[in-house]
Amino acid sequence: MTNAEIKQADKDLIWHPFAPLISPFEYIPIKSAKKARLFTHGGKTIIDTVSSWWVNIHGHSNEHIANAIHKQALELEHVIFAGFTHEPAVKLAKNLMTILPDNFSKVFFSDNGSTSIEVGLKMAFQYWCNLGQENRTKVIALDGAYHGDTFGAMSVSARGGFTKPFFPFLFDIESLDFPTEENFEQVLAHFDELTSDEKCAAFIFEPLVQGAGGMRMYSPEMLQKLVALAQSKGIICIADEVMTGWGRTGTNFATDQIEANPDIMCISKGITGGSLPLGITACNKKIVDAFQSEDLEKALLHGHSYTGNPMICAAANASFELFQAQECKDNIQRIHNKHQAFIEQLKTFDNIENIRLTGTIVAFDLKGFGETGYDSEARKKIYPYFLERGVLIRPLGNVIYLLPPYVITDEELELVYETLLGFLREG
Ligand SMILES: Cc1ncc(COP(=O)(O)O)c(C=O)c1O
Repeated sequence: MTNAEIKQADKDLIWHPFAPLISPFEYIPIKSAKKARLFTHGGKTIIDTVSSWWVNIHGHSNEHIANAIHKQALELEHVIFAGFTHEPAVKLAKNLMTILPDNFSKVFFSDNGSTSIEVGLKMAFQYWCNLGQENRTKVIALDGAYHGDTFGAMSVSARGGFTKPFFPFLFDIESLDFPTEENFEQVLAHFDELTSDEKCAAFIFEPLVQGAGGMRMYSPEMLQKLVALAQSKGIICIADEVMTGWGRTGTNFATDQIEANPDIMCISKGITGGSLPLGITACNKKIVDAFQSEDLEKALLHGHSYTGNPMICAAANASFELFQAQECKDNIQRIHNKHQAFIEQLKTFDNIENIRLTGTIVAFDLKGFGETGYDSEARKKIYPYFLERGVLIRPLGNVIYLLPPYVITDEELELVYETLLGFLREG
């Protein structure tokens, strides 16, 4: 098909995510991609600074992952995961156990970040049911959170433009102010109160960095205090590592930077290196013990058709091998160092504020854009500005951030930084 034919058919037939049907933007047909670069049908190159929605940690069209999928597809492409098991799934579980907290003992497979959250919530609720405490139904979540688009995940996410039509269908939660250096004492006192409620079941959080909420960052010390306090009262702590996992914050998982371990971890995005969709909900022995029963009523009655798909597990195992290699660790550190140096340049601009860095994520806020939501004027102006210059940057309201694939080269990073600085100079 020609570039024009693809665009027309897309416009006629396809409903894209997170966008009005009459879109201010044209969808750009991408023909191929390699490492940090996307190649359009029209012959342009675009540097992907957002790892294609934060999934693509090893870069695009990675050969090691592609070969693993190909090989697996010819041997066992799929099998029902009820009543059967297979080596790729078992191997993945074993691989995960080598990087999950020591007291973790089981993994549950689903299809994406949102479903990993659904499973995490169901595990937490049913944990209390299985212990005979059905009244424990309250969840505490951080203000500004984004945990996904299914109903449970929406319920524990911030109420806002994304979820407005569904407010009547979402379950109530307790919202905790986002912790900052200024408000932390009050936040901790409020958290103490909320976790003392005998109806309190779980605390869910994006550790260290709130992604879609605007790359908002908070310290490991604060997170440690929150998790330790919740666990001292037996509250189940659910770490949503969907975005922060796989080295994004500098450690394998963001919660590796605190002493306490969560009870449940939700993992997705980077797990297959951005090749195929997979959600994992992992949990510790405490959770597992509450389900150790032959009684079907005490079983977690949840599953999806593609649960544990062998090709997806093979992709995740291949991605895991790349992730464990020294080269990947070096790249994470290299990007962090480059961002750090870039921050010094950013500090010279007075049209931005809140410059922040965690691991491979650098972010700052643009001043002077009144509206800061997803659909803000800032986004409508900035997104096309960078695309025209061959750089994919998707601002979150007035927040500009970089979250690149780990294989991005120094030269590509320099080009992205220069383009950003040029934009800031233009004011
Ligand atoms: C922290 C977090 N949790 C959950 C999700 C939902 O993941 P998915 O889009 O794969 O359903 C996202 C997606 O951006 C996320 O950033």
